Amino acid sequence: MRKIIINGGRPLNGTVKVSGAKNSALPILASTLLLSGKASITNVPLLNDVITMMRVLRVLGLRVEYSEPNTMNVWINGKVRHVAPYELVTKMRASFFIIGPILARMGLAKVPLPGGCAIGFRPVNYYIKGLEALGAKIEMEHGFVIAKASKLKGAPIYLDFPSVGATESLMMAATLADGDTVIENSAKEPEIIDLANFLNKCGAKISGAGTQSITIKGVSSLRAADYRVIPDRIEAGTFMVAAAITGGDVLVENISPEHISSIVTKLQEAGVSIVMGKNSARVTAPQGINAVDIKTLPYPGFPTDMQPQLTSMLSLAKGTSVITESIFENRFMHVQELKRMGADIQIEGHSIIIEGVPHLSGAPVRTSDLRAGAALILAGLAAEGETLIDDMDRFIDRGYEKILSKLERLGADAKEVK
Ligand code: EPU
Repeated sequence: MRKIIINGGRPLNGTVKVSGAKNSALPILASTLLLSGKASITNVPLLNDVITMMRVLRVLGLRVEYSEPNTMNVWINGKVRHVAPYELVTKMRASFFIIGPILARMGLAKVPLPGGCAIGFRPVNYYIKGLEALGAKIEMEHGFVIAKASKLKGAPIYLDFPSVGATESLMMAATLADGDTVIENSAKEPEIIDLANFLNKCGAKISGAGTQSITIKGVSSLRAADYRVIPDRIEAGTFMVAAAITGGDVLVENISPEHISSIVTKLQEAGVSIVMGKNSARVTAPQGINAVDIKTLPYPGFPTDMQPQLTSMLSLAKGTSVITESIFENRFMHVQELKRMGADIQIEGHSIIIEGVPHLSGAPVRTSDLRAGAALILAGLAAEGETLIDDMDRFIDRGYEKILSKLERLGADAKEVK
């Protein structure tokens, strides 16, 4: 088990380069299940979740090799296996989206039901409704979802909620269906556009990605192509908060400014100075952080994946902030740990009320999921004294590439202990 010890109170200064987007790389890698030939995907962050996806694809029969720098090479020809491995898929609950491409390619898919995790239940009803609309027969057996359709048929699909994974899975499935599919109320996240751009490069006919209505004209086959993954907007936001919370001054490079507008707006409201460049943001902390209210929403609203990090920052603000979480039902697991560090936070249903305190004090804390871990690292960087964070490998390494060396280069006193 990897743990981190942080000696807080040092302002972060310097330049940090953001890695490729985890939440783009994962569906793009899954979508290689639809292709024939060899694809080289670059700017793939080498993270535990990405390694899990690589292992899933290998079990399904693809050849997948990683090469430096950050390139995943995938070879696929002919049939793949249709049973997704339980131990791997349940490790990474959002990976249920592989059901779409497996079914489209093989006419049959057997994927374990995800069950619950630290941030919520992760139901799959939107995937199932969508696949049924495309003509699939769905059964549940021994904890697996079994989907069958000798050939999927294009159809209109309406999502009750703009689920990221369901949009991705159904978009992938529809690329090889007979006829046209229109996904209404689809998710609009940049990662959806990235997946559509990759699939279009492979010969798919997808239009409208990034809007609430995506049209997919089915094609008979897709040829593998090379592609570069977009930068990780959540990693970018996390380093921006790291600059702000430590009283630092950081140039965050390798970003797509258009993907982080809601994060930039909230940080500016809190008094943080941000100067945007073409692919960078210079973030300078204010003398004191202002309280702000935030509600997480589907893109382009404020991302749920930045909510815990903002909770840490607003714990040190002047005044009262209210954060409302509207995407996941249980994403306040970091609050109890922040309270152990001296934060004054009350949970009221789907909201938290944060009374800013003048300082946090380092403490041993436990992390329960990836972004909660990021929030605790940020709090530890700002706190007085030593913070010991558990379970780095189970959570933080899932989503932040080389986080310790990036922080150390910015002047943080953060070290791994085995
Ligand atoms: N939902 C349903 N039924 C479904 C699908 C989703 O009720 O069939 C609900 C979920 O329970 C949740 C909400 O809809 O309450 C949104 O879930 P969504 O499907 O959009 O999330 P996801 O695809 O499982 C992705 C990211 C998450 C990110 C969310 C929201 C990946 C691999 N994961 O998950 O990322 O929080 O979208 O933006 O893309 C993270 O990186 O830390 C992370 C958790």
